[in-house]
Amino acid sequence: MKILTEHIEVPGIETIDVYRKHGGYQAVEKALKKMTPDEVTEEVKKSGLRGRGGAGFPVGMKWSFLAKPEGVPRYLVCNADESEPGTFKDHYLMWKSPHTLIEGMIVSSFALGANTSYIYVRGELMYVIHILEKAIQEAYDKGLLGKNILGSGYDLDLFVQSGGGAYICGEETALLESLEGKRGNPRNKPPFPAVKGLWQCPTVVNNVESIAATSWIVNNGGDAYAQIGVGRSTGTKLISASGHIRKPGVYEIPLGITVEDFIYSDEWCGGIRDGHKLKAVVAGGSSVPILPAEMILTTATGEKRLMTYESLSDGGFATGTMLGSGGFIVMDETTCIVHNTLTFARFYHHESCGQCSPCREGTGWMDKVIKRIELGQGRKEDIDLLVDVAKKIEGNTICPLGDAAAWPVSAAIRHFRDEFEWHIEHPELATQPGAVYMRP
Ligand code: NAI
Ligand code: SF4
Repeated sequence: MKILTEHIEVPGIETIDVYRKHGGYQAVEKALKKMTPDEVTEEVKKSGLRGRGGAGFPVGMKWSFLAKPEGVPRYLVCNADESEPGTFKDHYLMWKSPHTLIEGMIVSSFALGANTSYIYVRGELMYVIHILEKAIQEAYDKGLLGKNILGSGYDLDLFVQSGGGAYICGEETALLESLEGKRGNPRNKPPFPAVKGLWQCPTVVNNVESIAATSWIVNNGGDAYAQIGVGRSTGTKLISASGHIRKPGVYEIPLGITVEDFIYSDEWCGGIRDGHKLKAVVAGGSSVPILPAEMILTTATGEKRLMTYESLSDGGFATGTMLGSGGFIVMDETTCIVHNTLTFARFYHHESCGQCSPCREGTGWMDKVIKRIELGQGRKEDIDLLVDVAKKIEGNTICPLGDAAAWPVSAAIRHFRDEFEWHIEHPELATQPGAVYMRP
């Protein structure tokens, strides 16, 4: 079942003519000519679509929170910053099929009553920005953007804005600050962007994949979308699969397949690379807790774990993880968990904006302490020190980067404490090139 990627390999799909030959822009025709903005929102609500950037907040509900004061402009901002380590699905979609996003932007902007919308793209993806700009120009030339789109009386201008390469600008309020031309420091919430967003006006910020899915929902109805998936995890999800698998790549899966199938089936990851065994998985981008092999495949109650929001987080962080942005990083037994945790900790330390002290100081401490463990200079008390620092960051910061930095460290220690201990107790072994602790 493919919704977003059905035609992604068709030669020329990045051009408007080929895209239209494959059913493109029918959702714009339908929404603008036959539906009201409220009807579009109603279908999105019925679909159960949840935010695909990572938080999984219901899209229709977010849209219905949008304040609509008389005479004040509203904005739709597409978060295409996608900087979460292990996540590259939005990049793939925009690069291969830019009109899929542009069509979703038009339909969604219409539903929200926005006449100016933005796509904020991660700064490193300059070539994707050029692809989007070319596609947007084609849409203007065909009367799908600009004044009185397809004679409907609805006007929309769409702009692409480049970020400067800071991870924090993917946080929605930092993104808005950056879009306003300022340093990308997150704002306190509330007020949420739906009430005070871009230039203090009501704004919806949605991920690329979420916006792209709205065209299919308009064409086929919210009920049809809700029939795909399991429970509150409806529809399909793009998963960026990387690491020690036979077939890394971006896969569109119906939510609800088993994690085991996703890893081992030839349709998806194709199993672990030759002769190796699964050791651990980070299921939703670097911000979510790591799980060892036995726990990623099976829930706390002994059932097969599913690729859904609920099943992956089953039992909370003691036994589960999160679907997050769908950045599925697979590690085999040759992976050193201490080294892996250091890589993440160094990243968050580097990317902290420095506004709040638990994150600014705590990420630095975690980086420093894990580094000394890795270098064979760890102390016995360091493991508990790391757990303590992570606890002090969690829940005490302005934006979720603090939690994102703390969770991978506390989860790595929760599930692989013996590996950290081995590094401290056997520095002469642990610091040999390529040395990896093998669990007994
Ligand atoms: P969040 O849970 O704070 O918010 C989710 C969305 O719902 C936001 O747009 C927020 O404005 C809206 N919202 C929540 N309550 C609301 C209310 N009462 N009224 C109006 N709107 C409301 O999470 P956030 O900060 O948007 O995202 C965090 C997630 O992002 C993490 O879990 C992580 O997985 C993911 N992430 C993804 C990255 C990527 O590259 N895709 C990068 C970094 C993090
Ligand atoms: Fe900045 Fe970190 Fe505070 Fe977020 S949690 S505002 S990144 S210092």
